[in-house]
Amino acid sequence: MAKRNIVKVIKSCSRLEGELILPGDKSISHRAVILNSLASGEAEIVNFAPGKDCWSTVSCLKALGVGIRKKPPQDYPILLVSGVGKNGLKEPANVLNAENSGTTMRLLGGLLSSQPFLSIITGDSSLRSRPMGRLIQPLRSMGAEVYGRGKDSFAPLVIRGEKLHGIEFSLPVPSAQIKSAILLAGLFAHGRTVVHQPVPSRDHTEKLLKYMGAELEVDGNSVSLSPLTSSLASISFPVPGDISSGAYFLVGGALHPDARIIIKNCGINPTRTGITDVLLAMGAKLKIKHERVEAGEPLADIVVESSELRGVEIGGSIIPRLIDEIPVIAVAGCAARGKTVIRDAAELRVKESDRIATVSKELSRLGARIELLPDGMVIHGGKSLVGREVDTHFDHRLAMSLAIAGLVAKGRTIINHAQAAQMSYPAFWQDLQNLTA
Ligand code: S3P
Repeated sequence: MAKRNIVKVIKSCSRLEGELILPGDKSISHRAVILNSLASGEAEIVNFAPGKDCWSTVSCLKALGVGIRKKPPQDYPILLVSGVGKNGLKEPANVLNAENSGTTMRLLGGLLSSQPFLSIITGDSSLRSRPMGRLIQPLRSMGAEVYGRGKDSFAPLVIRGEKLHGIEFSLPVPSAQIKSAILLAGLFAHGRTVVHQPVPSRDHTEKLLKYMGAELEVDGNSVSLSPLTSSLASISFPVPGDISSGAYFLVGGALHPDARIIIKNCGINPTRTGITDVLLAMGAKLKIKHERVEAGEPLADIVVESSELRGVEIGGSIIPRLIDEIPVIAVAGCAARGKTVIRDAAELRVKESDRIATVSKELSRLGARIELLPDGMVIHGGKSLVGREVDTHFDHRLAMSLAIAGLVAKGRTIINHAQAAQMSYPAFWQDLQNLTA
């Protein structure tokens, strides 16, 4: 069946100005609802991420017997979670559906491989084409029975929960999803679980687990976890704004010739702030104000103003700190003076779309000059973009990056399948309009 096509038309505007409250961080929200489901007691998660991805996690957890409801409408979405405790998850009566969300599938895949029942987890066509062997392999070495399509490479995954044992595992790629899946399985295993990362990736799982009473230690790039002896303590907290969603406006504000945007309550966990480091290196006028910490997660307000950007070279250990922001960094590269080179980012090929291919294809339609690399791209900046018809490939990060490109392009940019933005940021189009009004 053909998918719906919601079209958005973006035009350049004379001024970009205002204050923005971001949706709650998607990565933290997934973890907050999963870990509170395993805790004893009630938790109130304020500013829970409103995108479809986190709702996929919620509906899977509900199918596993967790009581989760939304508090009646407030300024921020509030989720109430009644934890079932350490041994309280129930066998789901049907196949679980992670839809488009890799974090849902991988984190729950880890958790379910330790639970004493059968579960099957599937996803949409994009998620069913993303690599799952990297999840299955370490879980099997913990004693899990997990199977996938294509010789255990792809979802749907069939998981017969088993008694697991802790392992010491070196991640071949710096993936926070796989690290978190192993740690979730390790909570219920016999003996300690140790994960070594080649370079650090987002550490929200570690932070929350520690906060909720798990015995966990971080030493450099290694994380070591002891199995749970009692249920985690539930935790109520406000989720910081999602810097990955803020990135569109950080770049938009820097590129626009007459802009000043204040982004309130934005998460600034150092494992996620590659975007601000890169924009500063490109010459962006950014100011970080009112830094504070909530439930172990740092947040701040960020002010961005019109800037003259220059190209940069990005690679190595910064990549996991900005992996989801590379599509919009590519937009910044198009407008910057000189060349922007992105390397060591082959992971982009296995995201919601092959982002090396889709980003360069769609930005090239607007007149960008981009050379493809197996693990990145070279963007020749300084060329004015011209509005044309483009497509999101059903990838939320591409939808929002194309909107920012459209904002600085001449004429009208017509974005097909713009509904993809709902995966992480349903209010994106409205927030953009408010800043341009
Ligand atoms: C995420 C980790 C990253 C990121 C994804 C969210 C997470 O994926 O791209 O959007 O919440 O753990 P990988 O772990 O595959 O790098």
